Parts: sequence; C-alpha cells; structure tokens
Amino acid sequence: MSNPPARIETASNAVELRLRVRLWRNKGARVALVPTMGALHEGHLALVRAAKERADRVVVSNFVNPAQFAPHEDFARYPRDLAGDRAKLEAAGGTDLIYAPETKAIYPDGFSTKLTVEGPGVGLESDVRPHFFSGVATVVAKLLIHCAPDFVMFGEKDYQQLLVVKQMVRDLDLPLEVVGVPTVREADGVALSSRNAYLTPEQRKVAGHLNRVLARVAERAKAGVSIPQAEAEGAAALLEAGFDRVDYVALRDAETLALLRNVARPSRVLAAARVGATRLIDNMAV
Ligand code: PAF
Repeated sequence: MSNPPARIETASNAVELRLRVRLWRNKGARVALVPTMGALHEGHLALVRAAKERADRVVVSNFVNPAQFAPHEDFARYPRDLAGDRAKLEAAGGTDLIYAPETKAIYPDGFSTKLTVEGPGVGLESDVRPHFFSGVATVVAKLLIHCAPDFVMFGEKDYQQLLVVKQMVRDLDLPLEVVGVPTVREADGVALSSRNAYLTPEQRKVAGHLNRVLARVAERAKAGVSIPQAEAEGAAALLEAGFDRVDYVALRDAETLALLRNVARPSRVLAAARVGATRLIDNMAV
C-alpha cells in the first residue's frame, strides 16, 4: 500500500514562518523556498522536486501579489484555491510548509517601499507591464527576508523574472542561491502556466504555435538570418497562427537580455503575445 500523503504545516505570517525555519536550522537543515501565486500545476511541482534535491526542508509560498498587477489586469479573477493547492502538494510530497501570508503580513498599513531592478528588468515585459518587476522584486525580497532560505527556485518559463531576481539577490548581497528550473511543457510544447486555464479550446490550439514559432526564430538566427529579420518573421507567424496581438518576439543575450548582433554568445528567444484577453509568454535557449 502507498503511504498516506504527508501533512504539510502552514504559516500565515513572518513570525510563524521564522519560528519554524529556526527550529529546522537548529538541527542543521538546509532550506529552499518556492515562491508561487498558487493555482499550482506540474511546473510548480517540478520546482518543489528541484528544491527537495538541494534542501532538507521546502517552503512553498502562496500569495497572489497585488503589487505586480496593474489595475486593468487579472488580479481579481486570478485563480485562487488554497485547499486544492495543498492537496496537490501533499499528494506530490516534498513540501514541508506552506507560507500563505495575509495581504497585511506582506503589505501592512503604511507600507511605502518599492524595489526597482534595472539591467535585465528594463525592456520586454517592462515595456508592456511597467509596474510588474517592481511588484515582483518587492514581494520576493519580503518573502526571502521572512524565510531566509539557502535556495530560492524560479521557473525558466518567466525567464526575465528569473534574471531580475538573480540581479536583485546579487545587488543586495542576499546569502542564498537563485536556482532556475527548466520549463515544463504539455505534449504539444505549450508551457504550463496558471493562465492557460483562461483559454477556450480554440485559443488553446492557437497557444500551441507559440513554442514552435520560437524554435523557428532560433533556427533562422542560427542559420545566419539577421536577428531583426528572424524576430519580424516570428511576430508575423504568431499573427498568422491566430494570436490577436504580439507584444514582442526578441532574441537577446541569455545572461543580460542585452541586444545582440548575432547568436555567437549564449542567447535566448523570448515572446509575449495575446490570444483573446489572455497574455501568454514563453522563451527558449537558442
Ligand atoms: O512567478 C510567480 O508566480 C510570481 O511572479 C512570484 C515569483 C511568486 C512573485 O509573486
């Protein structure tokens, strides 16, 4: 018979979380944090597995962060199901504690600080969502201060976010390692995302083109087509496939997201496009 799912503890504020982490640390445990906004899928569970490979104890935070949504974005309708998320984590194993702070535990009355990360935080997503990385950096900094982990795990699916967090951790001398985990994909290559739940069956078919177009842009650039040309072809192919709007298709330096003349250095192709009201992002190594 298989073992019953492990019971996961919960903390709902920094004091409770720190107490638990201190008890683990007193016994010599290494700790990893997996920051999430809930609506967990196999991509998040891959982060938990990668965390468990490195650390003795794993904390999964679950907080839909208002600071990273603009007023017109999907904060109100973002899927929330803490009980369902807990059941998924318990069934998967590997998680010791869920940190589900109340909004006031992160943003108490009078909260007035915003972190700005330049470098990899400038351009691409910021051109379209200027509030986004400041909201992410601020909440991730708070989660890291509350948890003080040895490792923090981020999916490569949000590649620019991963670089922004690495930059912030380096700049603020936070004593921990930021670990990037490869994107988990459906059979047709669609990157797993909580926002895929918004797609109609028709839109889901359109979404299937995004990773194929990125692969084609990478191939074209490697074959010697100029980067602006390969990017323009990619954007046209997305519209042709049924996307309603393309925010960007961009081939950039994989470490800094700087513009490139050619793909001699490690590079990454990134895209954001909308189908109906849903905005999808994806990226891959070139
Ligand atoms: O990637 C996400 O789910 C969020 O941006 C994060 C890192 C949990 C911060 O709210």
